[in-house]
Amino acid sequence: MSRPVDHRSTEAARRTGRGRRIGITGLSGYLGERLAVAVRVAGHHPVDLGRANGLDLLDPGSVSEVVTRLAPDAVIHAAAANPGRPEDSFDAVNRVGSAAVAEVTTGIGARLVHVSTDLVLSGRAAPYGDDAAADPLGVYGRSKAGAEAEVQRIDPTAAIVRTSLIYGLHRIDRSTAGFLDRLRRGEPLELFADVVRQPVWVDALAEGLVRLAVEFPEVSGTLNLAGDQALDRAAFGRRMLARWGLAPAAFDRIVDGLAGPRLPGVALDLRLGLERARALGLACPGVDEVLARAGTVAPPGRTDPAGAR
Ligand SMILES: NC(=O)c1ccc[n+]([C@@H]2O[C@H](COP(=O)([O-])OP(=O)(O)OC[C@H]3O[C@@H](n4cnc5c(N)ncnc54)[C@H](OP(=O)(O)O)[C@@H]3O)[C@@H](O)[C@H]2O)c1
Repeated sequence: MSRPVDHRSTEAARRTGRGRRIGITGLSGYLGERLAVAVRVAGHHPVDLGRANGLDLLDPGSVSEVVTRLAPDAVIHAAAANPGRPEDSFDAVNRVGSAAVAEVTTGIGARLVHVSTDLVLSGRAAPYGDDAAADPLGVYGRSKAGAEAEVQRIDPTAAIVRTSLIYGLHRIDRSTAGFLDRLRRGEPLELFADVVRQPVWVDALAEGLVRLAVEFPEVSGTLNLAGDQALDRAAFGRRMLARWGLAPAAFDRIVDGLAGPRLPGVALDLRLGLERARALGLACPGVDEVLARAGTVAPPGRTDPAGAR
């Protein structure tokens, strides 16, 4: 059943830029839950394009039916099968599922903002500009690069946002939770000192995605949106562990390792240029800036500068 159209409120929404219906796939996920908050803060209405409403990315028919029925003005496609899930689901959920999302948003004339990852890049040619060609090393990265290509083919007006490791201050992220569990069980933990990323604060990412959906409909193609501080995985991991209350003595069980010599499938240097994001005025605070604002103390032991670039 189609929604009744209130022309007065539609016109008011057009003028003020508020009151839009912003569809979110993956709303139950780590990014999705903060996207819903960011949508509300910006004066819009989040629309749950998830399993609760019958949408399964493995079933393109359900994608078409649910998005058409709920008729959002814009869609932020944040759902994905992420590392840790079975590898054989990556292509169907990420590439084929994203194509289904792009088909239906194009069909109903909704703005599409697609969430991608720095892992579409090999790490052999950093720093990567906004329009760097995808050259993924792993199965997950290939599925997300495939998703980017499908989205670009189906909807050349879509914005495709490449981001980095996502962390938040409201809830511990999955990686840090896993590290914390191991260390609290008394086990050692190896963190890579040669894997460089630009971790992104989930709330800055969410705000940027909403702005791309509503304020910047003319932005198309790939764009990097990440924190403006490059950190190696070991330095970032230590900061997060301190943030989430790891006892100082347990830091002694962290060992810095090197992925390069033994794991050829790991992208080592995924520094991202943030020119497009900066030109649009999107916030890209680095990890230390975000943690300082939150009053988090630095981790004990190896506090770099070597880790910070
Ligand atoms: N986390 C990171 O560090 C990181 C880094 C770079 C890029 N990204 C990208 O950022 C986005 C959000 O990541 P996240 O970490 O927030 O994800 P997440 O916490 O793993 O959540 C994934 C979301 O996708 C949904 N989903 C998975 N399979 C689905 C299916 N077949 N049909 C419908 N929904 C499905 C999940 O729904 P259910 O709860 O119902 O399963 C959940 O809401 C993804 O596109 C990811 O590739 C993440």
